[in-house]
Amino acid sequence: MARLAGKIALVTGAGSMKGGMGNGKATAIRLAQEGAAIAALDLDQTAAEETCDLIRQEGGRAFALTADVTQEDQVKTAVDRCMSEFGQIDILQNNVGILKTGGAMDSTVEDWDALVHVNMKAVFLPTKHVLPHFVERGVGVVTNISSIAGLRYLGTPYIGYNATKGSIISFTRNLAAEMAPHGVRANAILPGFIDTPMARNITEQNTDDPDTIDWDALDKQRAARIPLGRVGTPWDVANAAVFLASDDASYITGTEITVDGGVSCRV
Ligand SMILES: NC(=O)c1ccc[n+]([C@@H]2O[C@H](COP(=O)([O-])OP(=O)(O)OC[C@H]3O[C@@H](n4cnc5c(N)ncnc54)[C@H](O)[C@@H]3O)[C@@H](O)[C@H]2O)c1
Repeated sequence: MARLAGKIALVTGAGSMKGGMGNGKATAIRLAQEGAAIAALDLDQTAAEETCDLIRQEGGRAFALTADVTQEDQVKTAVDRCMSEFGQIDILQNNVGILKTGGAMDSTVEDWDALVHVNMKAVFLPTKHVLPHFVERGVGVVTNISSIAGLRYLGTPYIGYNATKGSIISFTRNLAAEMAPHGVRANAILPGFIDTPMARNITEQNTDDPDTIDWDALDKQRAARIPLGRVGTPWDVANAAVFLASDDASYITGTEITVDGGVSCRV
C-alpha cells in the first residue's frame, strides 16, 4: 500500500540544474511514487515541468509552479494555486538552497547577503504561508533541507553556507515545538556529499580548467572518505523525505536525520 496515498505535497526547488537529478526533483518523484500528488515549485519553469513529466510518465499526479521562494507575493500565490488545484496541502518539502564558497576573511558581503536571503527565506516563507492550511486541519509535515555542513566545519571554508544551514536546524526545532500542539511535525534532513548538478557545479567553479576534471577518479577519492564507501545520490535524500512525511514518522518531530554515509561521525 502506498504510504502517502491521498496526500498532497508542495516541493520547492523541485527542478534541477542542467536537466540532471537533484534532491528536490528526486524527492518529488519518490513522494509521488508513494501516492502523493505533487505541486513542483521551482524558479526554473522548464525544470519544474520536466519533474512533473517524469511523475506523470509513472502514472502520478503533478503540476508545476514557477516562483521564487524568496519573494513573499510569489510564494503566497503559489500556495494559493496549490490549494485551488488540490484543495489541501499535507506535506511541505523546503528544498531550495544555494551554495557559495568562502571563509570568514574572503567572503564578500554580497555572497553573505545572498546566502542569508535565499537559504533562510527558502524555509521561512513557504512555511509561513502553508502553516495556516495545516493549522486549519490540525495536520501537516514540514521537512527542511539543511546539510551536515550546518553541524561543523568539513574542511573547506564555506562559512556563509554553513551558518545558514546551521540556522535551518534551529528554525526547524523552533517550528516543531511551536506547531506540535497544532498537529504539525517539522524535521530537517542533513545531506552529506550528494552527487547532484549543484555539487558538480561547485566543483567546476573551484577548478581552474573544469574540462580536465576526471569525475570517476574524483568520485573514488570522495567515496574513500565516506564510511559507507560511496557518494550519496538524490534518491538517498528522497527516501529519508518519504519516511519523514509518512505516518511511519508520526512520533518524530524537531529532529535531524543525517543522510551522509556516516561522514559526520568521522569528521
Ligand atoms: N548536493 C549536495 O551535496 C548537498 C549536500 C547538502 C545539502 N544540499 C542541499 O540540497 C538542496 C538541493 O540541492 P541540489 O544539489 O539538489 O541542487 P539543484 O541545483 O539540483 O536543485 C535546486 C533547485 O532549486 C531551484 N532554485 C534555486 N533558487 C530558487 C529560488 N529562489 N526559488 C525557487 N527555486 C529555486 C533551482 O532552480 C534548482 O532547480 C539545497 O538546499 C542544498 O543546500 C545539497
